[in-house]
Amino acid sequence: MEKRWWQSAVIYELYCKSFYDTNGDGIGDLPGVIEKLPVLAELGIDAIWFTPIYVSPQTDNGYDVADYEAIDPRYGTMEDFKRLLEAAHGHGIRILMDLVLNHSSDEHRWFQESRKSKDSPYRDYYIWRAPKADGSEPNNMGNYFFEGKGSAWEFDETTGEYYLHYYSKKMPDLNWEYAPLREEIYRMVRNWLDMGVDGFRLDVIGQIKKPAGFPDETRRIMPNGYAVDRSARNHIPGVHELIHGLYENAFRYYDIMTVGELSGSTPEIAIDYVNHDRGELDMNIHFEIAGRKEVPTTPRQYKAIEKRWSSLLSKNGWIVQYLTNHDGPRQVSCFGNDTVYRKKSAKLLAVLNLSMPGTPFLFQGEEIGMTNVYYDSIDDYNDPYTLGRYRMEVSEGKDPEKVLKDVAWVSRDNARTPYQWSGKENAGFTTGTPWLKVNRRYPEINYEADRSSEDSVFRFYSRLIAFRKAHPAFVDGDLNFYMEDDEQTVLFSRKCARETILVLANCSDEPAPITLPEEVKAHVFTEAVTNREGKEPRTELPETLEPWEATIFTLSF
Ligand code: GLC
Ligand code: CA
Repeated sequence: MEKRWWQSAVIYELYCKSFYDTNGDGIGDLPGVIEKLPVLAELGIDAIWFTPIYVSPQTDNGYDVADYEAIDPRYGTMEDFKRLLEAAHGHGIRILMDLVLNHSSDEHRWFQESRKSKDSPYRDYYIWRAPKADGSEPNNMGNYFFEGKGSAWEFDETTGEYYLHYYSKKMPDLNWEYAPLREEIYRMVRNWLDMGVDGFRLDVIGQIKKPAGFPDETRRIMPNGYAVDRSARNHIPGVHELIHGLYENAFRYYDIMTVGELSGSTPEIAIDYVNHDRGELDMNIHFEIAGRKEVPTTPRQYKAIEKRWSSLLSKNGWIVQYLTNHDGPRQVSCFGNDTVYRKKSAKLLAVLNLSMPGTPFLFQGEEIGMTNVYYDSIDDYNDPYTLGRYRMEVSEGKDPEKVLKDVAWVSRDNARTPYQWSGKENAGFTTGTPWLKVNRRYPEINYEADRSSEDSVFRFYSRLIAFRKAHPAFVDGDLNFYMEDDEQTVLFSRKCARETILVLANCSDEPAPITLPEEVKAHVFTEAVTNREGKEPRTELPETLEPWEATIFTLSF
């Protein structure tokens, strides 16, 4: 395939609600993003992916869309959005929007109409089923948020039927079988593209096709009797035709990038979505690394996962690199050491994420080494998964303190706390009361303090991104691991016709002895980027790596 702009791009995931508040209402906004664009330009990113900023009652922080064609007034106006688009483009930064097409909000006009009567012209925009003879739900599917009774079906008095909601009952699933719904979506997508938007991240797109006949799920049955078997809801035959429809009716006419969020995908599954010749998506987000929340992926697993996924590159596909997003713990808390080696391990993770094959996605805040939040009280949490799981487990009789500890570790709020701009009150994020409490570590960890420190994480990211841009091996090079079974280190080369790059990383608090093959040692190497701040550059390939050391070498003969 000919090279496309997004293959060498670095993407920044921006959670607007927590980025920067300009009017003191405690909520980040578009004028705030415009104001901070120079910071992002200095970082060197090529595109921003906005998590949803459409009109929304915020049941799930915007993933419950009430109007796909308007900006939520909390964030600004359509005029602000257009100003942002222009200003970003002026900095060479593209804009990607989040398309949430599996479900809408129950406050969307379509759903308001749909629930009015069985004859409503909008009835079939959603998935309605009659109760079973005994009045119960059409099947045993549970919702992901453990909400209400736990069912994925909600009974609606007006028409005496149930509607489907994989997530909250305030987020009814859309019915992709219905052609007029598909047409509405194509038109809406083209509108954004005609406005100048540069692409989309497609939310949970692998589950827009529903199981035929809605049989009971047989796996992952919860104590309350409902099942949450994601494998029965994703990648159902027919899903490709639906995505191809989006491509044929919208994507193909524009120079854009599309990335699908595909939970439960393996490389074998993903290739059918991202093989360039199929006309579906450009790349996919998988969960094999970031999805293991309870027990983080180890270096050895990481290498095996990266190796398997990089095989897509030779099959006319493309991949996404990321270690965290808005749905999980902070990467430095999860994979690094967020106390003694916070900055050093944050930089190591930057090196890994930005040196692997594919398009790297950063998540807001990792460029200053932001950490997990761990609130003292469940009342400080906002994430519906966290609250739902807490309530469920406590109601099953578990110790509330223990449950709080368990949910705190995986809570999506870890990633969603306000950006720490300075040591001022509320971390300089707002002059009002922030919608979600700031992380108590902000006096130590904030942009201003970081940016001006000797060993700045931000400046490291910015140098690393610039280095990546100057070296084609990061985009074109093959991937070759050394000491693959080692549990402590990640050592690899990226080699293309023009150059070889060697990356050495020690993901542990202990020094790591390493052995590199003779053919690597035979090269003349130059230390290019390292997190061994303030030390003399290495003049020989090391035999031992420092704790959390990450060093990149360029090699020549
Ligand atoms: C995706 C989003 C997540 C949201 C869910 C439902 O997984 O990343 O934040 O809750 O979809 O839209
Ligand atoms: Ca605001």
